[in-house]
Amino acid sequence: QERMQRLPLKIAELNRVLGGGIVPGGCVLVGGDPGIGKSTLLAQMAAEVAESIGPVLYVSAEESVHQVGRRATRLGIQTNKLFVLSEIEVEQIIEHMESMKPTLVIVDSIQAIYSSASNSVAGSVSQVRDCAAALLRVGKQWDIPIFLVGHVTKEGSIAGPKVLEHMVDVVLQLEGERFHAYRILRSVKNRFGSTNEVGIFEMSEGGMAEVRNPSEVFLAERLPNANGSAIAVSMEGTRPLLVEVQALSSHSAFSQPRRTANGIDFNRLLLLTAVLSKRVGMDLSDQDIFVNIVGGLDIDEPAADLAVATAIASSFRNFPVAADVALVGEIGLSGELRSVGQLPRRLQEAAKLGFTRALVPRSALKRKGGDAMPEGIEVIGVRTLGEALDVALVKPG
Ligand code: TYD
Ligand code: MG
Repeated sequence: QERMQRLPLKIAELNRVLGGGIVPGGCVLVGGDPGIGKSTLLAQMAAEVAESIGPVLYVSAEESVHQVGRRATRLGIQTNKLFVLSEIEVEQIIEHMESMKPTLVIVDSIQAIYSSASNSVAGSVSQVRDCAAALLRVGKQWDIPIFLVGHVTKEGSIAGPKVLEHMVDVVLQLEGERFHAYRILRSVKNRFGSTNEVGIFEMSEGGMAEVRNPSEVFLAERLPNANGSAIAVSMEGTRPLLVEVQALSSHSAFSQPRRTANGIDFNRLLLLTAVLSKRVGMDLSDQDIFVNIVGGLDIDEPAADLAVATAIASSFRNFPVAADVALVGEIGLSGELRSVGQLPRRLQEAAKLGFTRALVPRSALKRKGGDAMPEGIEVIGVRTLGEALDVALVKPG
């Protein structure tokens, strides 16, 4: 790594997730459901690198050169340094790499190629592994960065690309709901940087557009005084993000009420409902409870606990959450609020988006040194979930 400079990308969201550009000789696996936009994003990246750094070899093993060309036209790509090769045999691909010595190679997808030297069945796990190993060897030898596309779901239900995770340097996962425009690119593994960063894109007519103000976008469709809606401030890597947490509590038709978590950990939801029952006295035992993070983001930080619990309480009690309040805090088993990191940065983002009050753990305000809190937002320290609900929920009259 010390020998070679990284190749910087103008697509800032991609740069962020990679940890600051492409590392020569490094191998990046880009996973995601079919149709999510992997080829689109990589074609855009390929065009940018071809134009500003050097020739790019785009190996299309799934689509014809004609299909790739149509996508390129749609994306407005006009460069003569992007070479598209329709090839499925890895030995052929390697020959092209060695004779061309491109700045970057993209193989779309790793499942669609085979090695004539390998005696296992095409498409099998060992074929995928052998092909990747052969490509990586050549990439390292000539310091050519390689991006492999792999169709893999979040659960890793397709065995193929999962076996590649330990071989490659970086694993990026492109997520989003297919019929919604937002796409989230997160790094699952990164030998060259942090794994917490996310890149946010919007699938548009002209390809994947970077979203520069994600908090604004995630809150765009919010109904401010709806019951069951609360705003959390999550840290995704180095960036604070405001997200809407929606909850619905409704009388269950079953003896065993249902719990559904979309975008938060299921066990976290169980814990928070238990705390609401036992420590706040809400009888949720006959309620079906659904929780959803709007926009398709996965929030795995306990800092979102307060917003999740408040959203559930809001729906259960039929009181809206005050529209100007952002909520930050982890909830402990006694119903106490526990402090979270990077509070000033979170509150700054909330203030920037027009929130005038923030409910935070009181303990976070009493820390030694007392981090300076941003201007323009009233920071209210609370000790327990019960206290937080008293402030956050708007009772009629
Ligand atoms: P694609 O990149 O082919 O997905 P993947 O490689 O992950 O399978 O893109 C999938 C969808 O994106 C496809 O249904 C068409 C749509 N799309 C756009 O909306 N805008 C565009 O500019 C392009 C190229 C594709
Ligand atoms: Mg594709």
